[in-house]
This record gives sequence, C-alpha cells and structure tokens, in this order.
Amino acid sequence: DTPLLLDRFGRIARDLRVSITEKCSLRCTYCMPEQGLPEIPPNELLTTEEIVRLVTLAVRELGVAEVRFTGGEPLMRRDLERIVAGCHAAVPEVPLSMTTNAVGLRHRAAALVAAGLHRVNISLDTVDRAGFARLTRRDRLDSVLSGIRAARDAGLAPIKVNAVLMRETLAGAPDLLRWCLDEGCELRFIEEMPLDADHEWARGAMVTAAELLQVLSARFALTPVGRADPAAPAEKWLVDGGPASVGIIATVTRKFCDSCDRTRLTADGMLRSCLFSDQEFDLRTALRSGVDDTEIAVLWRGAMWNKWAGHGIDAADFVRPERTMGAIGG
Ligand code: GTP
Ligand code: 5AD
Ligand code: SF4
Repeated sequence: DTPLLLDRFGRIARDLRVSITEKCSLRCTYCMPEQGLPEIPPNELLTTEEIVRLVTLAVRELGVAEVRFTGGEPLMRRDLERIVAGCHAAVPEVPLSMTTNAVGLRHRAAALVAAGLHRVNISLDTVDRAGFARLTRRDRLDSVLSGIRAARDAGLAPIKVNAVLMRETLAGAPDLLRWCLDEGCELRFIEEMPLDADHEWARGAMVTAAELLQVLSARFALTPVGRADPAAPAEKWLVDGGPASVGIIATVTRKFCDSCDRTRLTADGMLRSCLFSDQEFDLRTALRSGVDDTEIAVLWRGAMWNKWAGHGIDAADFVRPERTMGAIGG
C-alpha cells in the first residue's frame, strides 16, 4: 500500500476534479443534449458535507494537492460558496478552482473569493453573439462577458478561458483571441473529444490544433514556447512577440495521457480514474455505509491503481464512455 494515488503506469494523481452537479445554464452542442442531462435524484447527489469530507480526505490521506470544481455548471448549486468555504477551512493550503461558464458569475464572484476560491477557468467559445447563441443554444453572451470581468475585478487571477474547437466558431477564433488579450485573459483552445451527448463528433471532421494555428497565423505572429510543466495539458505560443500567449490543449492529436495527474469524482459520488473510464467506483455508497476515512482512502487507491494508460480515441476498438462531458466535468 502506497500512501499516494499511484497507478500501474507510475503516474501519481494529485489533481482532483469534483463535479458537483449535472445541471447547466447553457447547452453547448459539444457537451450537453438540447434537453439537458437526466436529473440526478436529490438523494444521490453528494451533499455539501460529503463533498467537503471527500476533498479533505483526498488531501490528507491521498496526497491530492489541487482541487477543481466542475459540473455541469458549478454555479447551478446554491451551496457552492459553502462547499468552497468548507474545503478552504479544512485544507487551507490547497488551491481551489472552478471551471465555469460564468453565466451569473457577476453576482457571486466576490462571495466566492471570500469563501476561499483561488482561480477560475471560464468556458467561452466565441465573442460573436449570434454564434454564441447557436453553439450554446442560449443567448447569454452578455452575462458571460460581465461574469468574466467581475471575476477579474474580484481578484481571481490568472483567468483562463477555454474554447473548444468547433467548425462553426473556427473563423471567429482570431476575434476571441483579440478579446482575451484586451481583457487580460489567458486563452486556450481545446480539441473536441468524443464526449458530446449528441454523438456528432467524428475524427475526420474535428478541428485540429494544426488547423487552428493556420487560422490564427493569418492575424497574429505565433512563436511556440511549449508547456509550462510536463503535466500541463496546454502547449503555448507567444502572440506577436509576447508577453501574452495563447495555448492549445490538443487532447486528440497530441494527447497527454502519459503525464496525466487527475482523479475525478462525479456529482453522484462515483470515482473515475480517467475521463474515458468504462468503470466507476461507488464511493457514495461506501461513504454512506459509515466506513471511515482510512477505508475510503484504500478504496480510492485501489480504483486509481487500475487506471488505464490513456484514452485510445484513435484506436480501432475505441468505445465512448457512457457518461458525456456534462456528467463527468471538464
Ligand atoms: P489549469 O491550467 O491548471 O487550469 O488546468 P487545465 O489546463 O487542465 O484546464 P482545465 O481543467 O480547464 O481543462 C481544460 C480542458 O482540457 C478541459 O475542458 C478538457 O477538455 C481537457 N481536459 C481536462 N482534463 C483532461 C484530462 O484529464 N484528459 C483529457 N484528455 N483532457 C482533459
Ligand atoms: N471535448 C473537449 N472539451 C470539452 N468540454 C466539454 N465538452 C468537451 C468535449 N466534448 C470542456 C469545455 C468546457 C469544460 C467544462 O469542458 O472546455 O470548458
Ligand atoms: Fe488522463 Fe484519461 Fe484524460 Fe488521458 S484521457 S489525460 S488518462 S483522464
């Protein structure tokens, strides 16, 4: 028994991603179905206290060093501030961050900072209002942009913006980069993975990092600078000589599974060792059956040991996981 979350390939998971809801205020086509995900029955959703307990034991017993709240959309939980505050009080040394679409963030950014939130990554795919409404199936661009500014004004820094590469929004990529540079946000483009609810993803049709570089190069001079550290998913390019940069997370064409350092909890308390796992481990039932932290830590380590080497999207026998991105968390 090793005290850390080690797997058969020698990787150590220090980055915990906690999905806290399946609900979302948007319906991005690469993530959610039009009608939203089936609701998790309230009694199956982890409570504030359960989330705080699992995060705390992940840090104290398993060596987790970083915690990211995801969804669905974390802002859909009214107890988000209490979750953050509870975790911050229990493990003050650990950076807490959130991946959010920023809808309504304007009203909560200050309280989240006060609760102990360190950073946010914000999903924004285009600054064109009509394009945004088509992609997300909701006309909420203004709320997102004001949410981003509010996050910045509340002292959250750096603000990273995530844009999934889609055919419909590709031509707007230079405008999005311009906007992020002007607002002081760090933009990263992400290759779409086959985790969309509508199963429209196709390897031959997806927008690749190489294609994006061509589009951006028509407007900006890009100089490659590589990764900040070997486990960082984003590779970076200086824009017009720097200091500002743009990142690309090439999940498919340059996958980074060899240095993966993630472990994940779903909103209904299932442990996933990989985005693409075909197995989940039911921590909720264990938790509710009254086992102590040490026993849960043993279960968690066992589940991570069996994590597989990588996602295999390009393998002939690739099968999509049952859960889509909206139910796992980015
Ligand atoms: P920070 O830079 O520390 O904020 O983290 P990050 O670069 O991992 O960013 P974030 O968590 O926002 O993830 C950005 C995107 O990368 C996600 O939306 C996913 O599309 C993709 N991603 C995140 N985690 C994984 C992962 O474990 N595996 C793969 N293949 N892709 C991931
Ligand atoms: N492929 C890649 N990234 C995705 N996200 C959602 N769906 C996908 C997908 N199919 C990411 C987005 C969003 C985060 C919550 O998850 O970047 O920012
Ligand atoms: Fe890690 Fe799985 Fe993502 Fe690869 S696909 S980086 S192994 S979570």
